[in-house]
Amino acid sequence: MTKPMDGVCAIKEEFIIQRPVKNTTEDDTNNKRKLTDNNDEDNDLDSKKVKTNEGQEQNKSKNKKRGQNKARPKTYKDNKENKPCPSIVCVEAPENSNPCQYNNCKYIHNALDYIKSKPKDLGETCYLFETRGKCPRGIACRFGTSHITPDGYNMVNLEKWKQWKDDTKNTIQPALQTALQKRKYDFSLSEKLIKHLDRKKKPNENNKETQQSNEESKEVPTENNEESNDAPVDKPDEKIHKSGVVTDEDLIKLLPREKKIIDWRDKLYLSPLTTVGNLPFRRICKEYGVDITCGEMALCESLLKGMKQEWALVKRHETEDLFGAQICGTNVYTITKVAQMLQENTELDFIDLNLGCPIDLIYKKGGGSGMMHRLNALEASVRCASKVLSIPFTVKMRTGVYEGKKITHTIVPKMSEWGASLVTVHGRSREARYIKSSDWEYIETCAQAAAPCPVYGNGDILSYQDYIDRRTVAPTVQGVMIGRGALIKPWIFTEIKEQRIWDISSKERFEILKKYTNYGLEHWGSDMQGVENTRRFLLEWLSFLYRYVPVGLLERPPQKINERPPLYFGRDDLETLMASGNCSDWIKISEMLLGPVPDGFNFLPKHKANSY
Ligand SMILES: Cc1cc2nc3c(=O)[nH]c(=O)nc-3n(C[C@H](O)[C@H](O)[C@H](O)COP(=O)(O)O)c2cc1C
Ligand SMILES: [Zn+2]
Ligand SMILES: [Zn+2]
Repeated sequence: MTKPMDGVCAIKEEFIIQRPVKNTTEDDTNNKRKLTDNNDEDNDLDSKKVKTNEGQEQNKSKNKKRGQNKARPKTYKDNKENKPCPSIVCVEAPENSNPCQYNNCKYIHNALDYIKSKPKDLGETCYLFETRGKCPRGIACRFGTSHITPDGYNMVNLEKWKQWKDDTKNTIQPALQTALQKRKYDFSLSEKLIKHLDRKKKPNENNKETQQSNEESKEVPTENNEESNDAPVDKPDEKIHKSGVVTDEDLIKLLPREKKIIDWRDKLYLSPLTTVGNLPFRRICKEYGVDITCGEMALCESLLKGMKQEWALVKRHETEDLFGAQICGTNVYTITKVAQMLQENTELDFIDLNLGCPIDLIYKKGGGSGMMHRLNALEASVRCASKVLSIPFTVKMRTGVYEGKKITHTIVPKMSEWGASLVTVHGRSREARYIKSSDWEYIETCAQAAAPCPVYGNGDILSYQDYIDRRTVAPTVQGVMIGRGALIKPWIFTEIKEQRIWDISSKERFEILKKYTNYGLEHWGSDMQGVENTRRFLLEWLSFLYRYVPVGLLERPPQKINERPPLYFGRDDLETLMASGNCSDWIKISEMLLGPVPDGFNFLPKHKANSY
């Protein structure tokens, strides 16, 4: 308020581009983007539904007008005729070759032919070969010069390869995937538990809550009701009633004996971030000191179907020493089953339930922020999931659904009794999206109401100063979660821990991108498709990174998340380039790291300029 111009980030005079150069169209598009788009999460998740609801009807509905990104072209698509058959990709010597098993295989089968037809390598050294001693993409690697022999074999550095240990956990095993696809997974523990807790509820208590929940659900503009929402995956009720009477003793025998406890106090927590909060990005944040990391939101229904893409979201890098998966579901059955299944098949420190997701499709089915109005379903889910787990079960909420009606403070007092280990409150309603500031006074109200359940605050932290200010306003919160602040400047965790402002150079920032690219090639692969996936995720990240304004240019550091700078020059060309909000400049940066984009390359950022 005391600022000369609200919402404007003051830059030192000498760096301001006084008059937009004649090429104004560029700047215009740039500004338009900034002014019209205010939400990132939505865009991401809208495209997610396309992926996860294949073959279902929902997309035909009125939702069509939202999610302009549905028509996003794929950045790159490989075609089979140009690709080597998997049978020739990783052959180390003639004696290891295995002929292709398929009659009509369309891929290339002669290694030398493939190598001849392959585009020029993007670099001379392969990060994977260097670090592991063997590149799993073999002759298809776009950096393969150093590990492809003249006869078309994939070289191995045995010494390095023997020492290398897989550093990524929680990959779905084929047997589990098959069991899930065939619906053969044993969920009897979850089913018994749900039935047991349901029976234990006193009838009058049950009625009262149903009534309350129904009253509230009237406010949700949806077809939503407790019954119809349950169990899109199967019909749990039928199964459950078959499993007979469950006694307390039966259950006690089955349940985890001791609950692992996490000391949540004063930790820095990186938000779950759909698309951009991928494993390579989280590795970068770990290096800058974040304590807690969380996977991108995964949909329960898709996990239960064994969908590989969804399971990829719970993968964990070995450097993530306090790591959780975030799940989003619409009912106690899917949520409890997913909790059981993740516990039995992955290494996680906690599981977080998403109660904040704003996108229509999930909300209308009663999931994400929609569940804040379905207290019955919420209580059952938190009770059962936390009971089935030996690791903590946590929830992440907004202030409520509507801007004028904050309800979180009325829900959190029950969380501790229901079994939640932590509640994170993002201080905005579903309605507010990113337009208003996160309400930290309200977060404090929630933190007090939730005691003894610890509460984390979330929203708008972009500097150590922000961190201190928010913790002063909300002294009862035990720690903070940071989302966009980490995307804009992943070194924010170092700044907070070292209590300083870091005037990081453009060169150092570029080194971060280099590292990310290497981690990306490791994660998505170093062949054509892997390189282009890495590029796509890099570009998505760049659509946040350009918003960083270098400290040395600011009139009054630190930068605030809701302030926009005028057009400015950096202190060197790289700094200027990195400040550009133009997609074509992000592509240029990607080409400095991953070589030229392939013919027909297309990129439309998911979140465009988002969320000022
Ligand atoms: C690109 C993007 C993706 C997000 N994806 C998720 C998600 O998968 N799960 C979730 O609970 N919140 C998600 N959020 C919300 C953030 O976790 C966080 O609550 C919100 O951005 C406010 O914090 P901030 O001001 O520090 O960014 C997302 C936000 C952004 C910007
Ligand atoms: Zn083949
Ligand atoms: Zn390689």
